[in-house]
Amino acid sequence: MSHLPMALQIEHKASLREHNSFGLPAVARELVRVHSDADLRRVVDHPEYGLAPKFILGGGSNVVLTRDLTDLVLKVEIPGRKLWRENADAWIVEAGAGENWHDLVDWTLAQGWPGLENLALIPGLVGAAPVQNIGAYGVELKDRFHSLDVVDLVTGRTVYFDASMCHFGYRNSVFKQALAGKCVITRVRLRLPRPWQPVLGYLDLERKIADTGNLRPDARTIFDWVCAIRRAKLPDPALIGNAGSFFKNPVVSAEQCRDIIGRDPEIVHYPLADGSVKLAAGWLIDACGWKGKAVGRAAVYERQALVLVNRGGASGAEVVTLARAIQESVYGRFGIRLEPEPVIV
Ligand code: EPU
Repeated sequence: MSHLPMALQIEHKASLREHNSFGLPAVARELVRVHSDADLRRVVDHPEYGLAPKFILGGGSNVVLTRDLTDLVLKVEIPGRKLWRENADAWIVEAGAGENWHDLVDWTLAQGWPGLENLALIPGLVGAAPVQNIGAYGVELKDRFHSLDVVDLVTGRTVYFDASMCHFGYRNSVFKQALAGKCVITRVRLRLPRPWQPVLGYLDLERKIADTGNLRPDARTIFDWVCAIRRAKLPDPALIGNAGSFFKNPVVSAEQCRDIIGRDPEIVHYPLADGSVKLAAGWLIDACGWKGKAVGRAAVYERQALVLVNRGGASGAEVVTLARAIQESVYGRFGIRLEPEPVIV
């Protein structure tokens, strides 16, 4: 008899409340903690669980749980971080998918490898960062991406992905689309270009420069600024359950935008390189009067309309009902369909 399947540690009726940043109540029929590629191969080789449908859970910071899960939950806890390679134009850092994203950003700065500072304080784990191509303050993960490894959940093999294989888009990648549930990201490598160049074009950072008079902030200073900006308008999931921005910023054609601006001249919008225009979803929701409104214990955050929060004891159904009501009201007033950013289960 093989020893591999025997070593699989399965938790039954595992509560997921502590494992999703919204703090929503849900139970996994079975849950496996994954510490290595070998653990994943044990799952794939398992006579009972090998072929069972699987749900991959990282830090649970981008999911809305509306029900108990019957799929086998793979909770990614793969550790490790190191300098993978270094050359004249970059440091390449490798981190296990189970590392905390913000701690990794902080650690790379402490090591003297800047480049991730604009992505400070984004909740979640390293393995989730490429799935939704996290982005903030003018930098997206894809701008700092080198490669990653996955374990294929059919073959059990470890496969190397370069950037082109990941199909990165705005808060999107192949791992959210065709490969959803089919493979598990185990390690991510980030390419931090040298010499370091600050990214300071975002309005909130320009304001910091004006307020402090510091025209040449170093990477640690930018990190501190980003943390301060985020803390001022985004709720800390450790204190108030939430999943960051609940909706993507919608992109409309220039023509549609002219129409909307004609009716609402103050609308916050950003022209994109291809002629289309990105609208601030937070502004649209705010304009419909949603700040502070609630359905049961699920509410729109008072300081940022793009964020839905759990005031304590909310159900996934309440979050989804609130989200639908917001979508309807924004559609009714602006004719724009908002698309949720987190995965709704
Ligand atoms: N706004 C309002 N009212 C609100 C919220 C926003 O009028 O209640 C206006 C703001 O005044 C601002 C504009 O909308 O002029 C945009 O707001 P903000 O700069 O806060 O950025 P965002 O579009 O709300 C995006 C990302 C964030 C990221 C920030 C900073 C998306 C969906 N969200 O937010 O990402 O941190 O930019 O780069 O792209 C996340 O994805 O979870 C996330 C937090």
